[in-house]
Amino acid sequence: MSVYTIDHVSRRFGSRRRSTQALNDVTLSVKEHERWGIVGESGSGKTTLLKILAGLDSPSEGKVLFMGKCLDIRDRATLGDLRSSVQMVFQDPRSSLDPRMRVGDIISEPLRSPLVKGKVPADADARVAEVLDAVGLPADSQRLFAHEFSGGQRQRIALARALAPNPSILLADEPVSALDVSVRAHVLNLIDDLVDSMGLTLIMVTHDLAVVRHTCDHVGVLYQGTLVEAGPTAEVLNNPREEYTRTLLASTRLGHA
Ligand SMILES: Nc1ncnc2c1ncn2[C@@H]1O[C@H](COP(=O)(O)OP(=O)(O)OP(=O)(O)O)[C@@H](O)[C@H]1O
Ligand SMILES: [Mg+2]
Repeated sequence: MSVYTIDHVSRRFGSRRRSTQALNDVTLSVKEHERWGIVGESGSGKTTLLKILAGLDSPSEGKVLFMGKCLDIRDRATLGDLRSSVQMVFQDPRSSLDPRMRVGDIISEPLRSPLVKGKVPADADARVAEVLDAVGLPADSQRLFAHEFSGGQRQRIALARALAPNPSILLADEPVSALDVSVRAHVLNLIDDLVDSMGLTLIMVTHDLAVVRHTCDHVGVLYQGTLVEAGPTAEVLNNPREEYTRTLLASTRLGHA
């Protein structure tokens, strides 16, 4: 079953005269339990694609099917389905978490969303304690404020928040790139473990091909808004068909050439 069918999606920003083509005719299918890495240089459209999948933005052309149904973010019912199943972790936990909110409130916020339905546990406090434990933070973190935590800990809080409503799909936009190198591997391993244990479908944006090799079974390469290559990680990275993928590989010194 395809979780997402991305069908000839383009996204333009700006006016007709001065527009940016952030995505250009992207077609891709993501199946249940796959782990996709989306790579590409800065400005290649990675975040734009993820936002469309999260229902935070819409294509200018083309369409996205979510669980076989056309995703229309003006339609509350479809958006409700999406919010109940899909959660997103943003790139920088300093800006994505409100520093003046208590951790318990940050994590339970998605549980209180009127759009999330069905899977929400009755006892929000118990669920917060459960997900804090799952991400390796003590239960008494609930009462503290986000600004009292380090970058790595904040990204754990962001993960706990994403996992609280028991999603089946996790979207992650460069989840470790803002973190100190020493904690990156910890947070990445944590994401791996949680994706495994919760049986999640993962779509993760990264510019780091080592992260893709480590975590993702599929990879899509974006170049100036165009998906130039997509497929199983080993195939794409060991036998890149596109010049741009080879350049990416060479720049991270992981290439076989
Ligand atoms: N809301 C917006 N309004 C205007 N232009 C935008 C908007 N969002 C993105 N863009 C433009 O679309 C292009 C793709 O942006 P996007 O943020 O998707 O790139 P990215 O691959 O995530 O880059 P990075 O690696 O730097 O995060 C860029 O040229 C960007 O300036
Ligand atoms: Mg981005």
